[in-house]
Amino acid sequence: MPRKIVVTSALPYANGPIHIGHLVEYLQTDIWVRFQKMCGNQCFYFCADDTHGTPIMISARKAGIEPKELIGQMHKEHKADFDSFGVEFDNYYSTHSPENRYFSELIFTRLNEAGAIVTRDVEQTYCDKCKMTLPDRYVRGTCPRCKAEDQYGDSCEACSATYQPTELINAYCATCGAAPTLQTSKHYFFKLADYEQDLRELIAGGYAQRSVANKLDEWFKAGLKDWDISRDGPYFGFKIPGEENKFFYVWLDAPIGYMASAKNYCDRNDLDFDDLWNGDEYELYHFIGKDIMYFHSLFFPAMLIGSGYRPANKLFVHGFLMVNGEKMSKSRGTFIKASMYAKHLNGEYLRYYYASKLTDGIEDIDLGIADFIGKTNSDLVGKYANLASRSGPMLTKKLDGQLGRLDEQGKELINKLTSAKDQIIQNYEGLNFAAAVRAISALADEANRYVEQNEPWTTIKTDPEKTRRTLTAIINAVRILTIYLKPILPKYAEKVEQFLNVGKLSFADVETVLENHKINNFERLFERIDEEQVNTMIEESKDTGVPKPAEAAEGQAAEPFKPECTIDDFAKIDLRIAKVVKAEPVEGADRLLSLLLDVGGTARTVLTGIATAYKPEDLTGKTVVYFANLKPRKMKFGLSEGMILAAGTGGKDIFMLTADAGAKPGQKVL
Ligand code: MSP
Ligand code: ZN
Repeated sequence: MPRKIVVTSALPYANGPIHIGHLVEYLQTDIWVRFQKMCGNQCFYFCADDTHGTPIMISARKAGIEPKELIGQMHKEHKADFDSFGVEFDNYYSTHSPENRYFSELIFTRLNEAGAIVTRDVEQTYCDKCKMTLPDRYVRGTCPRCKAEDQYGDSCEACSATYQPTELINAYCATCGAAPTLQTSKHYFFKLADYEQDLRELIAGGYAQRSVANKLDEWFKAGLKDWDISRDGPYFGFKIPGEENKFFYVWLDAPIGYMASAKNYCDRNDLDFDDLWNGDEYELYHFIGKDIMYFHSLFFPAMLIGSGYRPANKLFVHGFLMVNGEKMSKSRGTFIKASMYAKHLNGEYLRYYYASKLTDGIEDIDLGIADFIGKTNSDLVGKYANLASRSGPMLTKKLDGQLGRLDEQGKELINKLTSAKDQIIQNYEGLNFAAAVRAISALADEANRYVEQNEPWTTIKTDPEKTRRTLTAIINAVRILTIYLKPILPKYAEKVEQFLNVGKLSFADVETVLENHKINNFERLFERIDEEQVNTMIEESKDTGVPKPAEAAEGQAAEPFKPECTIDDFAKIDLRIAKVVKAEPVEGADRLLSLLLDVGGTARTVLTGIATAYKPEDLTGKTVVYFANLKPRKMKFGLSEGMILAAGTGGKDIFMLTADAGAKPGQKVL
């Protein structure tokens, strides 16, 4: 009976790009899912973007767009990134979805009815200027212990002290620099400790790897505390039922996003969600990184148990990616985005390299750049592709592409390859991809030795039929190795299937032998990596030191000055008087107004970010100062032809420069 399996990977945050660290997880999961499908099991792979929370709200504000629009863009980008690495989800959804709202409310309501939710007053930091509650990381100030300046609201990077943001000396809002005030507000808490016994049983039943269970023991010893699951508005998330301005904390609805993605898939594919998610017919597994164990081994299973859902069969926790033995680093250029990698290199190289390193443990895995180049060239090019290129072209050019039959020696080789099947399957199943890769590469060595012993390039001149038998064995070896590698190298496998003129290969095909069969022309399978390509990628990944908008947000003081500008540069600016003929809000962009200007008989349209300070109706007829020779800019909301002069720190604090009402449109401004 084929198994029925549901698999998830952690939902990547929608406020940043996918990088090669994330890919450890998505590639590990994808390989496992492909393996299951190739074994004939029914396996669904669900994921989504994790879209809610303060960072996304702030990024959107800075970009002058709605969070919804921001997450829409990121969703497209993430999907494209996953595509270029062959990560094939059955559904890639979003936590900002009706299904997720439904399940979040349902689970919350059930927990509440079970008495597992309490409310209590909490003191929180609030920024009057930004009009929002500040999460710990958005408050900065001087460390109360060591007096280091410019530390986060939860911990000091200089002395590692941890504290409340209220304890900081001279605290300020990381976004606008204003001093925060204190507020008391009612928060909702989930009583995690109510589920301690259930959680202990779950873990004793093998819910997580040994090393994870050990970590959990420490947490049990430290005691399970109530978990704050609400945030005050404005907050990008789901409103708590019965509340006007309180929202679910992002980590409450994020794991529920697994269910939402599954539900959305079920509805579109005529499957019963309750069977799939909550029946015993299906096995359920979550792949996650070790940094989010607490959420997946305590909070989430407790929430599920408390609301009548079953927790997963098992968590698969992996370690973190290191590059050349160190943390990924922007200054060293090792913080490599998925899109940057894909611009320079074949995604399958990374799939193979990660597979060669991955075990079922939670140790960090190291991407050694030199090792990566070496392994790609020696294994992918030197072993697998080589085997095919030493047999395919000779067969099609000299022997009509026609396979013969295996002789005794050929059978011996093929038997060796087929008899490794069970072991390789076990390695895949148990997430010991490194062991699978070692076994497969040893078999490829064996096959290459066979080629050397039989020297088809010599025998082709004297004994074509013996050569045909030799090449038949090699082609069969290529076929079996390709099956073994297919979960890791799906694109390579597709090319081989095409060249061997066979259908989609699966594990059930290992024992069939291709004899008296016609193959197609050989197509190159892999190119060698040149060190230069990798160096260029690392160079291009290096942070130039100029903060990107999202980073600049972290501290006002950190915003550096722009490069020098001469008086001649300044003199290029052509300022003119303009009259506002019409002012209108811009659909989808809260901060923008569209102004139609009369610049002395010429009409110009300008999109300007002053909507937080000015109402459109107050602007019509105003005489303003217009930057006339600014190159027109195509913005997301249309073409902006120039600029009007205004300044301020943002929000209500923006002042437009106006001129005497008698000034003539088009007139030069001094
Ligand atoms: N949004 C949360 C997860 C919510 S799941 C209900 C989150 N997102 S993340 O984008 O930061 O990380 C997504 C996954 O990638 C996590 O499992 C995380 O452990 C993993 N990784 C992120 N950076 C990583 C490395 N540098 N190395 C290995 N895995 C990494 O956490
Ligand atoms: Zn602020």
